[in-house]
Amino acid sequence: MITLAVETSCDETALALFSSDKGIIGDVLLSQVVHSSFGGVVPELSAREHTKNILPLFDKLLKDTGMDISQIDFVSFTLTPGLILSLVVGVAFAKSLAYALEKPLVPVHHLEGHIYSVFLERPVDYPFISLIVSGGHTDLYLVEGFGRYTFLGGTLDDAVGESYDKVARLMGLGYPGGPIVDRLAQRGRPSYQLPRPMIERDDLSMSFSGLKTAVRHITEAGDYSREDLACSFQMAVVDVLERKVIKAVEMTKVKSIAVVGGVSANTELRRRFEKLSKERGYRIYLPHPKFSTDNACMIAYAGMERFKRGIIAPLDINPEPNTPLELFGKEWS
Ligand code: KG4
Ligand code: ZN
Repeated sequence: MITLAVETSCDETALALFSSDKGIIGDVLLSQVVHSSFGGVVPELSAREHTKNILPLFDKLLKDTGMDISQIDFVSFTLTPGLILSLVVGVAFAKSLAYALEKPLVPVHHLEGHIYSVFLERPVDYPFISLIVSGGHTDLYLVEGFGRYTFLGGTLDDAVGESYDKVARLMGLGYPGGPIVDRLAQRGRPSYQLPRPMIERDDLSMSFSGLKTAVRHITEAGDYSREDLACSFQMAVVDVLERKVIKAVEMTKVKSIAVVGGVSANTELRRRFEKLSKERGYRIYLPHPKFSTDNACMIAYAGMERFKRGIIAPLDINPEPNTPLELFGKEWS
């Protein structure tokens, strides 16, 4: 079986061809650069960029892989969550193609894609804890099988990636801010005292907006070291994530942890979780950095699993801005 996967939930236009036997056949991805001067994604600009780029990217994918459109058995696509204007473009493309080819349509939840990004390299034994850290989410899930997700806890305000991007904006850096702050932090020292909100709380709730406000007070005061502030911010974020994962392990007694989503590309976060694995015997799974951030290969993997379970959507399906993972797709199973 071969699926074409479509991902347009935010500012990456991504397509992949994926085979049930051989895995990734090929993939193409375009990260939109139009947002850099705005310090964040501008939804309308994002939708326009997806519209402009999706067909040329599809042509490139077919050309690069030498595949013919008739070899596609079904179309997988991100239905939710995401920027609605951006989702609309990918969903319309997926629906049109499925209609023209008379092939099934398989909707995927973006977070399910992230959860399965680690499976692109090797399968992970169930159960495991998934820490999803992206631009839109900071959540802990217990994963007991495909489609069996229990929400354990998460941020009550900003997502971690979002706070990286906001801190970068406060320091006058570009967008996306995460990779830039990460690089700066490696040259700095954790010399600023920053709060670790909710770290002592006896549950898995998190909060990052106070941390960003503390950074703002320092930037507004004037003279500061960007490297040291980036390093201090990064340490605070990773301290909180590490502590909450330890708590999640204590609560669930599950010692396998997959850390996924854009922020899982972060250097300090990777270093700290590798250390946890050595010190506490946890099994830590991290996606290849190319699969940490948004991509269509992870959507293809999840789409293949959904298709195997007979989950197919009608052609009149519409994108949904924010359906919780636990409630996703119940009507098609
Ligand atoms: O998963 P993703 O590509 O998109 C969403 O689903 O949101 O995550 C994007 C987020 C952005 O906020 C970006 O700044 C952050 O991931 N990010 C990083 C790093 N690389 C990407 N944050 C910290 N360190 C990084 N190396
Ligand atoms: Zn994502």
